[in-house]
Amino acid sequence: MELRFTEEQEMMRKMVRDFAQEQIAPMVAEMEETDRFPKEIIKQMGDLGLLGIPISEEYGGSDMDFTSYIIAIHELSKVSATVGVILSVHTSVGTNPILYFGTEEQKQKYVPKLATGEYLGAFAITEPGAGSDAASIRTSAVKDGDHYVINGSKIFITNAGEADTYIVSAKTDPSAGVKGISVFIVEKDTPGFSVGKKEHKMGLHGSNTCELIFEDVRVPVSNLLGEEGEGFKILMSNLDVGRIGIAAQSLGIAEAALESAIGYAKERQQFGKPIGMQQGLGFKLADMATKVEAAKLLVYRAAALRQKGLPCGQEASMAKLFASRAAMEVATEAIQVFGGYGYTKDYPVERYFRDAKICEIYEGTSEIQRIVISKHLLRD
Ligand code: CAA
Repeated sequence: MELRFTEEQEMMRKMVRDFAQEQIAPMVAEMEETDRFPKEIIKQMGDLGLLGIPISEEYGGSDMDFTSYIIAIHELSKVSATVGVILSVHTSVGTNPILYFGTEEQKQKYVPKLATGEYLGAFAITEPGAGSDAASIRTSAVKDGDHYVINGSKIFITNAGEADTYIVSAKTDPSAGVKGISVFIVEKDTPGFSVGKKEHKMGLHGSNTCELIFEDVRVPVSNLLGEEGEGFKILMSNLDVGRIGIAAQSLGIAEAALESAIGYAKERQQFGKPIGMQQGLGFKLADMATKVEAAKLLVYRAAALRQKGLPCGQEASMAKLFASRAAMEVATEAIQVFGGYGYTKDYPVERYFRDAKICEIYEGTSEIQRIVISKHLLRD
């Protein structure tokens, strides 16, 4: 199998790479310092069509293929993993559920706004007592005439506070286990809905991660996504796709760490020669590059399957499991290559290290990815 991209995909890579270098790179230090959400960058991305890459023109999107979307996350994350995750969450889990499970009316109402960047999307499943065990949510939705009344809370919600629409899971039948979960589109200004505590995170500065609070939030029945009780399958199948995005984010971080390490290893002289020429460091770089290459193959293979409409849950989990581990290991080794300088904020490698860690946690921890993969192995 040869990894070859089409001309159109290469154009996307170049466009995103240039945009990231010219517009995002100069803002990274400020995002790191202030933790401010990069609103103006997201606005520019909307103008460039990056918020609706794999969405058809009919719904306001750029009508490009899924691999182009993954290329965009990969390239953005090389410069800013923060911008990478904002895009991934917005598209994979913030917009796709409406596109794939929404009624025509829901699609017409929300998708063009999300695809063009007029709206930003978010996805709310996690609760204080329901992280890896996503089916154990306690947020409830009780039908009352032509509305559902939602009560409960969510935590660790990416894009919270900046998003205009939230894909929210809630129990419509608490006695029915996973079959009692439903999914709703909740608009940010709905009375009773509020954004709570913002987390101060180790990394991904600039990406909002907040609590959501639902106090008698009345959502019209027309905002139920799919059928009542179908929610868990909607959530899980969207996470299958979302995980390819996080794998691409991990790949971007790993590649950035590798490139920094190679640059430094060529430049830094010790014992009379560049440190990369010392076998210990040369071997380190070789191992780092091999991990990045393997991650790339897994990420783009999962993307290719998804693009062809083939099942990709197992491959998405494998890509996320491997690429997030690779990002962590490569970033750790990059710090080692930089030595004492790598531990300072003068170089970006400490940021790659902090940003990489979350990739092993969100959209399903590495342990959850192993559960998903092993279930596929035993079932198939
Ligand atoms: N697609 C469609 N249906 C699926 C599915 C999938 N990928 N996975 C499971 N299902 C269905 C099953 O077929 C089953 O239905 P039937 O009974 O009709 O067969 C039902 O869902 C229940 O499946 P399981 O018994 O496998 O469910 P479980 O309770 O054991 O949980 C799990 C499975 C994989 C552990 C799941 O809970 C999980 O993925 N947990 C991790 C949660 C997660 O990833 N959270 C991410 C939060 S979002 C985020 O992080 C975004 C961000 O900020 C970046």
